[in-house]
Parts: sequence; C-alpha cells; structure tokens
Amino acid sequence: MSNTPPKMTASHVTVHYGTKRAIDDVSIDIDQDEVVAFIGPSGCGKSTFLRTLNRMNDTVASARVEGDIRLDGHDIYAPDMDVVQLRARVGMVFQKPNPFPKSIYENVAYGPRIHGLAQSKSDMDGIVERSLTRAGLWAEVKDRLSDSGTALSGGQQQRLCIARAIAVDPEVILMDEPCSALDPIATAKIEELIHELRGRYAIAIVTHNMQQAARVSQRTAFFHLGTLVEFGRTSDIFTNPRQERTKDYITGRYG
Ligand SMILES: Nc1ncnc2c1ncn2[C@@H]1O[C@H](COP(=O)(O)OP(=O)(O)OP(=O)(O)O)[C@@H](O)[C@H]1O
Ligand SMILES: [Mg+2]
Repeated sequence: MSNTPPKMTASHVTVHYGTKRAIDDVSIDIDQDEVVAFIGPSGCGKSTFLRTLNRMNDTVASARVEGDIRLDGHDIYAPDMDVVQLRARVGMVFQKPNPFPKSIYENVAYGPRIHGLAQSKSDMDGIVERSLTRAGLWAEVKDRLSDSGTALSGGQQQRLCIARAIAVDPEVILMDEPCSALDPIATAKIEELIHELRGRYAIAIVTHNMQQAARVSQRTAFFHLGTLVEFGRTSDIFTNPRQERTKDYITGRYG
C-alpha cells in the first residue's frame, strides 16, 4: 500500500431501504493503485455498498445513505457535487453486459461526446481506439466498429462496457460481479484486463468467486449481514483470517 492518501474513503456508511438496514456502519478506503474485492454471502449488502461510491443508490427512491464518502478528499454527497461528473470519474460495470443498442463505435463515443471530451472526429476516433485497446478489445473489433454492440459475444460485450467506462477517463472503476455471466475463457480475459488496468484506475470489484478475489485483488473486504466483518490484505483474508465468520465463509461453511 502506498503512502499517498486513499483515492476514496467511506466512513461509517449506513444504508437503509425504507426501514430495512442493508449496510451498517461500514468504513473502507480504496487506494489509487489497488484492486479491492468485496465478498460475502448473497444479500449481505455488497452491491448496495458499491453503489454508494458513485451515488447509484440515488436512483432508488427508498434508499437512504448516511455517513461520509470522499473522492480525493471531497464529499461526494455534498450539495455542490455534480452527479453526472461524479459517475464519469467513478465508472461502473454491471453484472450483465449492457451495451447500448448502437454501434460498437457509438457505445464508446457516447460518454466522451456528452462530456465534450473530443474536439474533432479524429479526436473521437483516438479516444475510441485507445479505450477499446485498453479494454483488450481493439484487435477483435477494429474492422467492425459500425456493427451493433449487442452483436458481440458476452465476454466481448463486457469488455465493450469496460471500454465505455474507460472512455470518459475515470479515476475509479466499480465492478459488480463483472464475470458472473461469462464463461471461464471470457472470465480469464477480464481478470487479465483487471491486472492491466490496475495502477491506472482504482478498482473495487464485487465477486462471488473466491479464487477470483484472490487472483485480482490486493485487499479484500468480507461483508456479512450488512456489516463489514473483516478488511485486510487479500493474502491474509484467505490464509489467515482474524475473524471466525471470515474463516467459515472462505472455507465454504456458509454462503
Ligand atoms: N432496491 C432495493 N429495495 C429494497 N431492498 C433492497 C434493494 N436492493 C437491495 N435490497 C436489500 O438490501 C440487502 C442487500 O442487498 P444487496 O443487493 O446489496 O446484496 P448483495 O450482497 O449484493 O447480494 P448478491 O450477492 O445476491 O448480489 C438485501 O436484503 C436486499 O434484499
Ligand atoms: Mg449484488
């Protein structure tokens, strides 16, 4: 872990849906150069917590978020925070690949156009090529950029969604079970990609796959029933957990 301040800090975060508490007093920080994995049984609040990091829960009418969440030291829930801008800086990749029903090119160009990141067609071409290259997809699609994004394979669609997130030059990328709809080969490609993206973006990834958490992350957070049971170096969590509940989960006793 570096000496620079964390990219994101979440302190004492509690989330309710109506009267139901889904996250209870969770504090986690994410460094600039690391991948943090969120693990835990279904329904323990991993997605809920992940979504607080770019205010995706704003779109859920019953959701109420308390606590303090900062990006580069700035409170992302402050009244002057531009949420559209925030979601470009903290991008998100979902469980099911969800390309727009538009061309491959347009899927990537859409965000940069909205945010005014390209001054010309050749600027935009450059952003599209660079984003697809970083997402490990350029070689496979460079001759069919006008084909529909939905015509790609599941694994390619997920890499297209990663390219789309990268295109607006984010600082943090949130991934909610990005491989759960993919076969093992496509999954391996995404994991490889996560390795390559590390350092350029801070990454938080929710996964049900323990081996995946061990392979891609430097630190792991174990959630159970809305609480953060343990957060530490991935190697420690998997080989030498401090909490009994963590040990039970990683040895497959429940979940
Ligand atoms: N929009 C919502 N409205 C009401 N309750 C919700 C909503 N979304 C999630 N919840 C509840 O909050 C709790 C945490 O859900 P969440 O989706 O964050 O869990 P999770 O750890 O991501 O689970 P999974 O591994 O199955 O994706 C659950 O009890 C869930 O039913
Ligand atoms: Mg979830």
